[in-house]
Amino acid sequence: MEIRFHGHSCFELSEGDTRVLVDPFLKPNNPAAVASADDVEPTHVVVSHGHADHIADAVGVATRTGAECVAIVEVANWLEEQGVEKVHDPNLGGTVRFDWGWVKLVPAWHTSTIAGSADAPYSPTPGTVTGTPAGLLINLGGVTVYHAGDTCLFGDMKLIAERNPVDVALLPIGGHYTMDRHDGVVAAEFVGAGTVIPMHYDTFPPIATDAQAFKAEVEAKTSSQVVILAPGESHSAG
Ligand code: NI
Ligand code: MN
Repeated sequence: MEIRFHGHSCFELSEGDTRVLVDPFLKPNNPAAVASADDVEPTHVVVSHGHADHIADAVGVATRTGAECVAIVEVANWLEEQGVEKVHDPNLGGTVRFDWGWVKLVPAWHTSTIAGSADAPYSPTPGTVTGTPAGLLINLGGVTVYHAGDTCLFGDMKLIAERNPVDVALLPIGGHYTMDRHDGVVAAEFVGAGTVIPMHYDTFPPIATDAQAFKAEVEAKTSSQVVILAPGESHSAG
């Protein structure tokens, strides 16, 4: 599986003819991205929660490409309302199966609100509360990726990984809106993935952090390898 990092929490997982775009947030919405919404051709789009930095380009990309979308039921209903045609609407614990693998929603400790007004697309004031945020387990071609979404550290990450062995963990480390790099080290210990890729850092000033220090600490304390990707870079897994 090829894992392309688009910056922030946006990744594209590819294997064969399948391209799964996670948390679409691209240029110019995403200040870190090098690709725009017109540069991607996903077959599937998976969304962790309704914050703009995870969903800003979901509708545009999905309506242009006809990609099938997976999101927790409230976000899925909103996507349908926006004109996305092929939408799967699981809830936590639910698994959606495809011929290439599956997507399972697991907990994430965070909030989730979709901005509800075209005049103020990033304002939470007119926003719609869209249920619970999710973490995502995505199995593509036999490789399991855990995209933790936006979350603080929580002990059940251990249970999630015990029930669904994780090959590659995508963990937020920027702090402020999610866990920081110190809690991220403990998350890496809990998950026990072969590979850890940090995300959700350095996009905006409040989430600036030292990814190299995170890598050094994880590799000193666990058997996981940390791969730091710059936006636009890819990693081959499995
Ligand atoms: Ni968020
Ligand atoms: Mn976020």
